[in-house]
Amino acid sequence: MAEILIRNTNERITGEDNVRSFLKQYEVLFEKWDTSKLPAELHHKFVLNEEEKQQILDVYDTEIKDLAARRGYQIWDIITLSEATPDLEEKLAKFEEIHTHAEDEIRAIISGKGIFIIKGDEQTGYFNVELEPGDVISVPENTPHFFTLMDNKQIIAVRLFIEQNGWVADPYPDPSFIKA
Ligand SMILES: [Fe+2]
Repeated sequence: MAEILIRNTNERITGEDNVRSFLKQYEVLFEKWDTSKLPAELHHKFVLNEEEKQQILDVYDTEIKDLAARRGYQIWDIITLSEATPDLEEKLAKFEEIHTHAEDEIRAIISGKGIFIIKGDEQTGYFNVELEPGDVISVPENTPHFFTLMDNKQIIAVRLFIEQNGWVADPYPDPSFIKA
């Protein structure tokens, strides 16, 4: 279950309803997919061949098509990141720059864990959304954010896009952001 950490105050928000209503203030979509639908052999597998990626997309076909119908996504794929990913540290360093996109950034976590760091309002500042399998999150367009992995450094997620080029990152340098 996703949890929120407000970075300025160290306040934690837990529980599905609390998390969802906190995120709603910032128009961040939060939904759940049923992780029990995933075949057991794929639950902890972080290096996937094309067949296994397609298998995941097939398992969640109804959920994907439902999101696409509601929110206009045209294409989707699977992203895998783990210690086996070539240049993982380099990739993470690039991810960890605050940026915005012209379209929303939606991720459905299939396995592993990840964190979205999102800019809230002036008073709240940045908050972490710690994501677990089954969590579906969408960061709205033009909202400063970045994504990173948790300590175990592995994740599998479904990504959906409205346009092929919609996910270009526009840097958002923010001197007020404190990393640690
Ligand atoms: Fe992004």
